[in-house]
Amino acid sequence: MAADTRAKAVTLDLRRRLLSSSCRLFFPEDPVKIIRGQGQYLYDEQGREYLDCINNVAHVGHCHPTVVQAAHEQNLVLNTNSRYLHDNIVDYAQRLSETLPEQLSVFYFLNSGSEANDLALRLARQYTGHQDVVVLDHAYHGHLSSLIDISPYKFRNLGGQKEWVHVAPLPDTYRGPYREDHPNPAEAYANEVKHVISSAQQKGRKIAAFFAESLPSVSGQIIPPAGYFSQVAEHIRRAGGLFVADEIQVGFGRIGKHFWAFQLEGEDFVPDIVTMGKSIGNGHPVACMATTQAVSRAFEATGVEYFNTFGGNPVSCAVGLAVLDVLKTEQLQAHATNVGSFLLEHLTQQKAKHPIIGDVRGTGLFIGVDLIKDETLRTPATEEAEYLVSRLKENYILLSIDGPGRNILKFKPPMCFSVDNAQHVVAKLDDILTDMEEKVRSCETLRIKHPPEDTHPTQILLTRQQDDTHLTDKTSV
Ligand SMILES: Cc1ncc(COP(=O)(O)O)c(C=O)c1O
Repeated sequence: MAADTRAKAVTLDLRRRLLSSSCRLFFPEDPVKIIRGQGQYLYDEQGREYLDCINNVAHVGHCHPTVVQAAHEQNLVLNTNSRYLHDNIVDYAQRLSETLPEQLSVFYFLNSGSEANDLALRLARQYTGHQDVVVLDHAYHGHLSSLIDISPYKFRNLGGQKEWVHVAPLPDTYRGPYREDHPNPAEAYANEVKHVISSAQQKGRKIAAFFAESLPSVSGQIIPPAGYFSQVAEHIRRAGGLFVADEIQVGFGRIGKHFWAFQLEGEDFVPDIVTMGKSIGNGHPVACMATTQAVSRAFEATGVEYFNTFGGNPVSCAVGLAVLDVLKTEQLQAHATNVGSFLLEHLTQQKAKHPIIGDVRGTGLFIGVDLIKDETLRTPATEEAEYLVSRLKENYILLSIDGPGRNILKFKPPMCFSVDNAQHVVAKLDDILTDMEEKVRSCETLRIKHPPEDTHPTQILLTRQQDDTHLTDKTSV
């Protein structure tokens, strides 16, 4: 039986029996079975259309015909490893180099973002002769053992922090220690990195690298203050370490203004290593690590071959080239700026209307909406965020939440996301928030006006909310 004709419940049952429960589903209470994708839309087994605001891997759109065609045509001719001469790999390296500062001129091809970051760690250690890594709090850099160790997002729930890993505060000017009212948050947060380095050095540790997403996305769509990364790079390099920019979620024009998110720091800012993944292959498993001649030479000097069975194969490179072509011909970077600005503006209008929206931030099609329970403490509205996302799903809009408080709505749709799509999402968001507020207000009205004589007001509020299938007693919109 074809997979798409199997009933959803049967698929779910098979999945539960055959796959580890560590492989989580979106919307576990009522998972969605998706059998087709096109552009910014996904379709379930009943043919229902969902607007995809989550998938930053299907960068130029699900199943983009140009990308599919490129893979197909190359598959018909040849797919083999990179030990033979082939034009695709050199053409692709050449095209990527045209997007990067000229110092980043050596390319390694791999299959996943995790592999790219793991190789970056190896190169940094080889080049510097040091072992230690500085990372930002709540960061995620991949699922390999080496990367779980440098991902506070994961290791905080596991065995804890390794002695060679040092964590600096997230440069979050909305929720972190230095906020929008601080005179120089970039310097203040960069000084935190400096302190982290000094205290590591006092223990005799030596820094090989600083790893960060150029815009921390896993940590909740954070926009670091301008100048922060340049100052961090100075501190890291002074300690003998390298600066690794993880562009796995945020590269390839997503941020609109620039092709790479690290370019927000200005033309003079050049990381020592840039890692790419996800969007690079529009769903096909490709990844890349770019670095300088000097760093690469130190790695070559070991005399040990770098071999990756699938990395840089002709099909993957054909796909990568096609993604770059589509970005250019459909002017998707400029499109991300236009649609992103529109979405940002309309979400900001919602912030004025709905007190649960504490902050709206972003650039291009990288946008975060920070939901709060109260304005003073900015307490994360975790349950409300979950409720909102489940209501959006009922309305055929797929959106995810992230951040340490699981309260930040993350917009990172395929780059073909349109102004109409943005308008539609904002309208639904507005409806749902209004409805949530209405529910809470009616509970309050009930509490004030009609307390049954022997019932405590709080009990009424809880009773009413328990009747509701979604709102919990923690809801405080
Ligand atoms: C910022 C970042 N770095 C690295 C990775 C790892 O990439 P992959 O899952 O392709 O191994 C991810 C994946 O979510 C990521 O978000």
